[in-house]
Formats: sequence, C-alpha cells, structure tokens
Amino acid sequence: MTEALDRQATQAATAARFPSVRGRRLRRTQALRDMVRETTLSPKDFIYPLFVVPGRGVRVPIDPMPGQAQLSIDHVLEEAAEAHGLGIPAVLLFGIPSHKDAAGAGAYDAGGVIQEAVAALKSQLPELAVVTDVCLCEYTDHGHCGVLLDDGTVDNDATLPLLAKIAVSHAAAGADIVAPSAMMDGQVAALRGGLDAAGFADTAIMAYASKVASAFYGPFRVAAGSSPRSGDRRSYQMDGANGREAVRELAQDAAEGADILMVKPALAYLDVLKEARERFGLPLAAYNTSGEYAMLKAAAANGWLDGDAAMLEVLTSIKRAGADLIITYFAKEAARALRG
Ligand code: PBG
Ligand code: ZN
Repeated sequence: MTEALDRQATQAATAARFPSVRGRRLRRTQALRDMVRETTLSPKDFIYPLFVVPGRGVRVPIDPMPGQAQLSIDHVLEEAAEAHGLGIPAVLLFGIPSHKDAAGAGAYDAGGVIQEAVAALKSQLPELAVVTDVCLCEYTDHGHCGVLLDDGTVDNDATLPLLAKIAVSHAAAGADIVAPSAMMDGQVAALRGGLDAAGFADTAIMAYASKVASAFYGPFRVAAGSSPRSGDRRSYQMDGANGREAVRELAQDAAEGADILMVKPALAYLDVLKEARERFGLPLAAYNTSGEYAMLKAAAANGWLDGDAAMLEVLTSIKRAGADLIITYFAKEAARALRG
C-alpha cells in the first residue's frame, strides 16, 4: 500500500515538474481547498472525558484544565446531554471517590460514584455510549494503579482480578465499553474472562494498549487526585522511547481480545499511531491527554497562539495519523468550532 503510493508519487514527480506542476492551483479558493482536503474531523470522532465526584450541585473547576471541572452526577448529566446534542457519541468517565483506601475498594462498589453515574446516564441518555476508565489509582490512598507491596512494587497478577471486578461492576451498571488503563500485563484477558463469566459478553473493551509513563498526565492527576504518593509509574507504564515495544503491546492487547486499541498520549506519539493504523485492523483510539490540552489552553490564554485554530490543527493531525476516535477534553469546543 505505502509502496504503491511511493511509486505513484515518484512517477508523478518525474513525469511533470514546475512550471507545469503547481501545487498552488488547488489552494486558490476555499471551495478548491475543501474539495481536495484529505482528512476531515467530525464530532462523531470524539469521546468526551468527565470527572465524576459524589454529591449534588458540585462543580469544581480544575485549575490546570481551563473549562473542565469535577462534576457531581446532576452536572455530569447536563454536560453529557450537551455533548450528545453536539453530535459527540460517547463520554469517558473517571471517578473520584469520597474515600480512598489501600485496596481501592471504592472502585468496584456497586453504589460507587461511577456505577451510579453510568446508571443515571444510561437511563437519561440511552443512545449516548458510556465508556468507563478501569484502574485503581483514583481509588487507592497510595495512588498506584494496582496492588502495592511493602517493597514498593506493584503486584501485577494480584491486580488482575481486581481490575476484572471493577469492569464487571461497570458493566452491571450499564457501561457500553470498559477501558483498562492500569498497564498490568494480561489486563485485557482478565477483563474479557471476568465479563464473559459474569454474563457481559457484549460489553466491549477499549484497551489502553500503548500507554507511556508520560509528563502529559500531570493536569489529570490534579483533577483526579491520583498522583502516586511515592515512586512513579515507570515500572508499569511504557518507556516513551520505545516504538517497537509499543507495537508489541498493541499486538498483545489485540490477541487478548481488545475491541478497540488506544495509543496514549497522542501528540508526542503520532508515529506510533500511524504504525498502529498500518498494522492492525481494529478500531483505533488516541488519547489527547490533559497535558496536551493544558499546553494549548495556556498558550491561547496568553495570546501566544490562536486557540481554536491550534485545537483543530492538533485534532486533525491525530486523525490524519490514523485515529478513528479521539479522546479529548476539546470535544465540545471542537464540535462547536466545526459547526462554524
Ligand atoms: C489512570 C489514567 C490516567 C489517565 C487516564 N487514565 C493517569 C495516569 O495514568 O496517571 C491520563 C489522562 C490524561 O492525562 O488526560 N490510570
Ligand atoms: Zn491508574
């Protein structure tokens, strides 16, 4: 496919040259530019992340993520309805529990904040797809994504049944898609097994497959209060320097039964996204993370760049690189900007 394209490009370049070839001809008017535009963004491409907190009438702005807030379920319903009205097909929910403990038990509590939010969304907005993040870091007092041992390591295999339990509780509440983000080996297989055994064979899995230990999650951890109390996540999240390993992680999650593969973060990993597109037939998602959002917002707020134009350029680049779906805090703004 790419070879054929290369050959075509070479032939075109040798058959004709300037002045008979002029790239500017098709850039002359908006109509001509629109006709030859290769990548188009649509609100249908977006998944809108929301942070759910207990209570009613709660809306706490998240400082490093201007325009985003921690929301109680009543506000989650409003935000979700607005997103749905703009043509956005899905939300991704993160829970901030009232109480954190060593085991992260709040994560699979049937009456937990996410489980209640999912049920409310599915009853009020049944056509909106609900995706849930499956991890422990928002629920553990130590802030790690799995079971923390005394020596400071995170126990992979002891974490797997807990992740499966969380996913089953989300599916029982009505989640359409569960998204494991802990970067434990075998997490997709553990979720698939747990879901199937509990009668949720139709609940889909969007796997955070290539997820790097990245500086671009900083604002999220402020929002979710999920920074590790000690150490960091480098023993489970990937080293961002590794492109071949990223492909192995993607292949592993596809083999374990993922329905959608995700690359995260997006911008610093567009090469991984492009390679994923070429190698895998599964639907592909990219996570335009909190730090990617924050840096554009900060520059725009300072008047250093045109925020709307930069937003659309960035989202288009993620789509062009190969993403079918973009998880982005810009979802509503971008949907509005696309409407014109
Ligand atoms: C939880 C999780 C994180 C993000 C999504 N799920 C944070 C982390 O791994 O520390 C990051 C999302 C963002 O930065 O927007 N495991
Ligand atoms: Zn986590």
